[in-house]
Amino acid sequence: MQSPPKLSFEELTLRNFSPHTFASVTHHLYQTTLSLIDEFMTMLDHWTFERRSHSYRVAHLALAIGKEMELSHRELFVLGVGSLLHDIGKMRIPREILVKPGKLTEEEWSVMRKHPDLGADILKRFPSLAFARDIVHQHQERWDGNGYPQKLKGEEIVLGARIFAVADSFDAMTNQRSYNQVVNGPEAVREIVRQSGILYDPQVIRHFRKMGDPMVWEHRFRGGEENFLPTIFPLEGFVGLFSEPVPEEGPPAF
Ligand SMILES: [Fe+2]
Repeated sequence: MQSPPKLSFEELTLRNFSPHTFASVTHHLYQTTLSLIDEFMTMLDHWTFERRSHSYRVAHLALAIGKEMELSHRELFVLGVGSLLHDIGKMRIPREILVKPGKLTEEEWSVMRKHPDLGADILKRFPSLAFARDIVHQHQERWDGNGYPQKLKGEEIVLGARIFAVADSFDAMTNQRSYNQVVNGPEAVREIVRQSGILYDPQVIRHFRKMGDPMVWEHRFRGGEENFLPTIFPLEGFVGLFSEPVPEEGPPAF
């Protein structure tokens, strides 16, 4: 018996995709990507014992700074997803290092410092999330070039990662993580402003300061996880990612 002719991917999809099928496949892919982000975050929580609420708070604050800077919808979209997934590379760090009580040895630190590279590697495997890869890869870089893993400096770091750094530090200072000393919002802002031009981009800090007293806005970024994902990952934004020719590794990060 003769085997049926093998169709290329293009032939197969063009032949079978009515507009209705196309819409349904897109929706399927969108829902799958949302669930993937959610599941990634759940797995990361279990692996690191960190609270996912931290990622949500940081993403909320990063977006608020981004809006203050009048970023486009697309830039906000990339910033939101990148902020949520920033530490995804920790999934590949041995657990005994992640949850070790007390100080890490220098060798353990060198393993820990691989998590941005590992995170970028993970996202590379998921084309519908690859747009957030630069933020994940660069989230531990510092404005003065003393961060890691690439020791990028100043504007060599994508804007999204520079904004993320400010939001993440604010959250780390104002919430109990492992051994940090918790300070109140205004003190955290003062400390962050002191590090402008050292740890943080002065342009981002200028806009961060314009947000005013954290006592007023801080509470807005707590809770509300249930409806947050579709808000920062809207269907229109997702479809927009594919509405123009994209380079092999996904749309450019900003
Ligand atoms: Fe990190």
